[in-house]
Parts: sequence; C-alpha cells; structure tokens
Amino acid sequence: MGKIARLENLNKHFDGLRAVKEVDMTIERGSVTGLVGPNGAGKTTLFNLISGFLPPSTGSIYFEGREITDWSVSRRVKAGITRTFQGSRVFSGLSVRENVVTGTYSAKNREASEEPVGDGIGSRIDWILKVTKLRKYEEFLARHLSYGYKRRLELAIAIATNPKLLLLDEPFSGTNTFDLQELTGLIKLLSHKGLTVVLVEHDLGSVASLADNLVHMDGGKVTIPNE
Ligand SMILES: Nc1ncnc2c1ncn2[C@@H]1O[C@H](COP(=O)(O)OP(=O)(O)O)[C@@H](O)[C@H]1O
Ligand SMILES: [Mg+2]
Repeated sequence: MGKIARLENLNKHFDGLRAVKEVDMTIERGSVTGLVGPNGAGKTTLFNLISGFLPPSTGSIYFEGREITDWSVSRRVKAGITRTFQGSRVFSGLSVRENVVTGTYSAKNREASEEPVGDGIGSRIDWILKVTKLRKYEEFLARHLSYGYKRRLELAIAIATNPKLLLLDEPFSGTNTFDLQELTGLIKLLSHKGLTVVLVEHDLGSVASLADNLVHMDGGKVTIPNE
C-alpha cells in the first residue's frame, strides 16, 4: 500500500480564527479514512487545503511523494485529487450525462491504464451512471433533479475525473435518497478498485462501518490521529 498523501504541520487562519491547527496526517493508498468531529471542527477547511481551494497559512502537503502545497485546484485534479462539496455543485443547464462528461475533461492527461473500468470514455460514463443510479435520468437537465439526485450527480462527476484520492464532504447529509447502505456499497466498490477515500461526517455512526481508520478533529486540531 504505502502512503499516498501526507500533511505536515498544516495551519489555516482566518484573521484571528485558527480553523486548522498543526495538523499532521498520513493517508494510506487504498484506504478509507473517516474524518469526524463537531460542526466548526475544521474538517471542510482541511479539505479546502488538500484540494487547493484555499492556501494554508503554513505547513506542507505532499501527494505521491511530491510537494503540492502551491499547486492550483486543476493541477491537483489532473494529478488525481478530487473533492465534493457539502452542498451540491452541478451544471444546472447541462444534462445529467453531459455533467458526467465534464468530469472526464479534468482527467484527459492521465494514463489510460488508470481508468478504473471500461475500454473507453463512453463505457466509463455508462458505468458511472449505472453505479450512481442516474442512468434513467441521463437526458434530464440537472436543474430538474431533486437535491438528493444532484448530490448523486456531483459524486458521479467526481468519479468521472478518475481520482486517486477522493475527498467526500458529508455525502450522507441533506438527503435520504442516497441512503447509507447504497453509498457505503459504492465507496467500498471504488475502494476495492484502489481508490483512496477520505470521508467527512459529523455523525460517527455512518462512517464507522465503512472506514479503515478514523481521524477525529475538534477546534481545528486532530484530537485522535490515525497513527
Ligand atoms: N472562508 C472562511 N472564512 C472565515 N472563517 C471560516 C471560513 N471557512 C471556515 N471558517 C471557520 O473555520 C472554522 C471551521 O469551519 P469548517 O472547516 O467549515 O468546519 P467543519 O467542516 O468541521 O464544520 C469555523 O469556525 C468556521 O466558521
Ligand atoms: Mg464542514
């Protein structure tokens, strides 16, 4: 296995507020890590740092042995780091299928051998639509989906980027459409294909069965580490 990512003494300050404090973390390749902690613990901020949406105040981020602390979001996506958001973010004017296709654009420069399934882009999209149960709605405009299905679509787009490290921010929240068992099954399936997953939840129960290890955060700090 070996490690895929390493965070070293990461800090993020918003003016006086220290949202992430002195976080050290190793993420093992192929593992599912549950990142748990109360609201305001700094979980989403940590995802923003790993995915490049925010620069850290201090500290370093390594991915596959290279320092990526200063890399842009798109460069990280090309390298294999993709995240989802707490609310859904999809292209409302595109069809469900077209939305999933946008995910593949980010992966364009990657090796074909890294493709998790299928012989080509078309069959991979079919597979993604199938496992996220969006096949029936592939011609629908995304704006016509319910909130729960928009969250499925967001996950489908993320899978289409062909990530090595997938960061899921509260995928179970705000919807009962994507039920626990189904999403758990999907994450396990992706994990068996070698994908590394970090999953944020404030409710420990929903991740305990799924995660290989749990990291607890509170007040910006890792209070119970995975090592
Ligand atoms: N962009 C921002 N600007 C200012 N404060 C922020 C910003 N993002 C998050 N925070 C603050 O940082 C702390 C951690 O927030 P967050 O990372 O969203 O926690 P969690 O995801 O664990 O609920 C909170 O006090 C929050 O208000
Ligand atoms: Mg959050």
